[in-house]
Amino acid sequence: MSNRTQILCIGAGYVGGPTMAVIADKCPHLDVTVVDINAGRIAAWNGDTLPIYEPGLDEVVRRARGRNLFFSTDIEGGIRKAEIIFVSVNTPTKTFGQGAGCAADLQYWELTARQILAHSTSHKIVVEKSTLPVRTAEAMERILNGNDKGVRFDVLSNPEFLAEGTAVKDLEQPDRVLIGSHETPEGVAARKALVDVYTTWVPRERVIESNLWSAELSKLTANAFLAQRISSINAISALCEKTEADVDEVAYAIGTDSRIGPRFLKASVGFGGSCFRKDILNLVYICRSYGLDAPADYWESVVNMNDWQQARFVQTMLASMFNTVAGKRIALFGFAFKADTGDTRESPGIAVARQLIEEHARVVITDPQALDNAKVDLKDVSREIVFEPDPYKAAAGAHAIAVITEWTLFKTLDYERIFRAMEKPASIFDGRNILDRQKLFEIGFNVFAIGKRPLKHF
Ligand code: UDX
Ligand code: UDX
Repeated sequence: MSNRTQILCIGAGYVGGPTMAVIADKCPHLDVTVVDINAGRIAAWNGDTLPIYEPGLDEVVRRARGRNLFFSTDIEGGIRKAEIIFVSVNTPTKTFGQGAGCAADLQYWELTARQILAHSTSHKIVVEKSTLPVRTAEAMERILNGNDKGVRFDVLSNPEFLAEGTAVKDLEQPDRVLIGSHETPEGVAARKALVDVYTTWVPRERVIESNLWSAELSKLTANAFLAQRISSINAISALCEKTEADVDEVAYAIGTDSRIGPRFLKASVGFGGSCFRKDILNLVYICRSYGLDAPADYWESVVNMNDWQQARFVQTMLASMFNTVAGKRIALFGFAFKADTGDTRESPGIAVARQLIEEHARVVITDPQALDNAKVDLKDVSREIVFEPDPYKAAAGAHAIAVITEWTLFKTLDYERIFRAMEKPASIFDGRNILDRQKLFEIGFNVFAIGKRPLKHF
């Protein structure tokens, strides 16, 4: 066996794949193996078309793959030789039993812990990468260290803060890396081993050390705060539409206060993504389980506000289209939950498309990266939807366009050409406030944006 430090990651998803690729790229002195139960996904990581679309990731993987970055389905072999094991399997919201719809489903997590235990014959550092309820490490340690094999495991929490679409940059130049451990000599030594990995390329002052529970809870708290800002500005967007205030002007005015700051104040059709909803509901569940109903209600309102904003978007469409969209072709511009990703998990596009279908609209979806995922998300109603890669074709014959994702592509289209091919009156509902409203209005569109006065011809 080589004496190079062996790193393993279980779970080759949006988090595990890019994180390990960047670690391998930055640390040629380490061997990094990523394993997954999904053989198709591993084959894709080893092929020409990676399983996820992420700007800059192809180059990183190309540099490191086969050198010190390996993708494999041999989970057991990987566990045996690893010294540091990152666990990045999914922890979806429970769909059954106690805590359904709120608590985290930890079945994959526990299975992975048992798998690690079964195949370990030497000391391992086990790193929680997935977002988990605070105090999960306690359960993990009970499973791992309750063994009679004489093998010791040190569990660390190292939550991932990367955002999709900017994952490579977020990993290469993180604002901070957070590593939590027990404050015991063993815990601190394990933490130092992981600090050494990151400080190969991350400045030392950006690596924050904390106790295990603080690290676990910080991840949930970070996502809750980010989502809370979006729900807050979205709540204000509704008031703007009633009062003729402009939400972008309000966001700019408050964001220049250095105590508030400018980011995450973009009003929208609603936030999506695999984390915000799941993590906040998880926080809500944890608060309730400790009898903390007021904090639980407080955080739950962030999710409720987001559901309301998505429903409100469709209501605005209905109200402005003579209270019926039945039989009308409506083009959704974008389906990814944000630009620069093909990921559609929890995308507001899902709720919007489903509500429009319930209203018997003829929905057409166009997106440069997310059509395959959109087909899966909407497979039960896909016979009623057209999936069209070309936005011009998607809009042809439509009564309305609804911008769901802020792809740059949608800002650069020829809207005069689009207008000519649409039914009249032609409306645009800009769920991301990315288009030039005045110009669209002059072309002839009725223009509705989030938190802005509508521009209507009739
Ligand atoms: C996941 C979690 O959803 C998130 O909470 C956490 O912060 C990071 O991990 P993501 O990487 O986006 O995020 O999930 P996903 O793309 O679904 O990847 C998880 C991978 O784990 C999948 O490829 C799945 O096949 C794999 N997996 C799951 C295993 O290898 N073993 C299992 O037992 C379960
Ligand atoms: C988020 C966190 O940012 C990241 O730190 C964590 O690790 C995982 O969850 P991600 O879900 O990839 O990352 O994307 P993010 O950029 O946070 O956007 C989430 C959603 O909020 C998107 O739907 C986005 O369009 C929306 N959003 C974001 C807004 O509507 N307005 C904003 O101002 C910012």
